[in-house]
Amino acid sequence: FPSSGPEVYPALGNLHLLPYGVQEGQAVFETAPGALVVEAIRERSTATFAEIELRPQGTVRSTQPSVVAATNGAPVTGGARLRVATDVPARVTIEVATNPRFRRPRRITLGITDEFGAAMATVRGLPPGTTVYWRARMRRRRQESLGPVRRFQVPPRAGSAAAVRVAIGSCAAQFGPVFDELTAAAPDVFVWQGDLNYPDTVGPFAQTVAGYAGIWRDFLANPRTAVLFERGLFAAQRDDHDYGVQDANSTNLVPWGLRPWESLVESRDFYRFSAGLAEFWVLDQRRHKTDPAAPDGPDKTLLGAEQRAWLLRTLEQSRAPFKVVCSPCTLAPLPANARDGSWAAGYTRERDLLLKHVAQSVGGRTIFVTGDTHWTMAYERDGLFEARPCPLGIPSPNDITLTQPLAAEEARALPGVAYADDERGHFALLDVHGTPGGAARLDLTLVREDGARPYTRRFEVPDPSG
Ligand SMILES: [Fe+2]
Repeated sequence: FPSSGPEVYPALGNLHLLPYGVQEGQAVFETAPGALVVEAIRERSTATFAEIELRPQGTVRSTQPSVVAATNGAPVTGGARLRVATDVPARVTIEVATNPRFRRPRRITLGITDEFGAAMATVRGLPPGTTVYWRARMRRRRQESLGPVRRFQVPPRAGSAAAVRVAIGSCAAQFGPVFDELTAAAPDVFVWQGDLNYPDTVGPFAQTVAGYAGIWRDFLANPRTAVLFERGLFAAQRDDHDYGVQDANSTNLVPWGLRPWESLVESRDFYRFSAGLAEFWVLDQRRHKTDPAAPDGPDKTLLGAEQRAWLLRTLEQSRAPFKVVCSPCTLAPLPANARDGSWAAGYTRERDLLLKHVAQSVGGRTIFVTGDTHWTMAYERDGLFEARPCPLGIPSPNDITLTQPLAAEEARALPGVAYADDERGHFALLDVHGTPGGAARLDLTLVREDGARPYTRRFEVPDPSG
């Protein structure tokens, strides 16, 4: 499994992509050299089974269930979503308490785990700012067991001036030093918007529904992210590789990119959450994406009609002083991956519609935090602010430094580019709170994998109630 190794080897770049030589993942196997690799594996793999018989030595009894992964999900109003994955099918009840000894717990019955051994809960009605403890109680026939205790802090209610810290990042081929910085930053919420360790590069025979169920179960149990997922809230979103396809869009989806994720990681395509003076939109830009070859026009979309209408409506309705749009793909008018397209290239009509709507009908301050393109950037011009902390961990040489060795250098000369780096991993840290003078403040910092903080931008909305 990816989480059990190998060690991080910075000099080797995308280590588990090395057999493919690129970051194209499964797409390689559609090429002639890729077909040769698969052929060689098939030739050397001679094991076949007609039958496997198991004979127990003692008496047979049912297995006591245990938790494989128990992690906090995205925030919801007054609570959070919670995820459990078990080793054998079990009936799951979640116990929730505001004390670590579980005195007077609330119980949420989830029924039997699904075909991927998963169960998800949404817990609400908890006091903002309190620390909440939870654990899974599992039952299988007459066997009962308790899962490990997890905790999270309920984010401040919408409009509260209380401080909240949200980290946002994307794209990690390796669990390198940036994860130590993320853990040290102790965000209340971590939004990972895509390319969660590149499941399409695990190998050709893992590209199945069962394979992805195993990959996501293992991902949630990775010790490198344990503190982030088990003491903070973890809001996840898919980009193309999580859908199992390089450059995924609505025309090339595969079954293994869909149900295992929705069962084990996040059942919603897109969602938003409030945290004090900021509201966050977590967008899906793959599932409903138009074929990139289509001409740019009013119907060409990354979001699909339903998500687009929801985004425009909820942005307009939101009273939050800060609107943070977590857009997996980039949008600033700079050279971008034109083959695949994004709001920056090939889908600009939809981007311009959104930016016009923000300028005309959305109150407060809207900013964008993006990913997908593997060099980190901050851009600010003509009212558009985009931070692109990406990748979290794809050590160079990587796809960008090999194919566009001057990407960051050239970008620094372009109007609007306030920061560019293509050598190291980054994430964005957003600290939001009210000031003594009654203003709403958001400090956005780009944190580099070595702990440096090379870029900070402070936003203030002077009178958030107006
Ligand atoms: Fe990526």
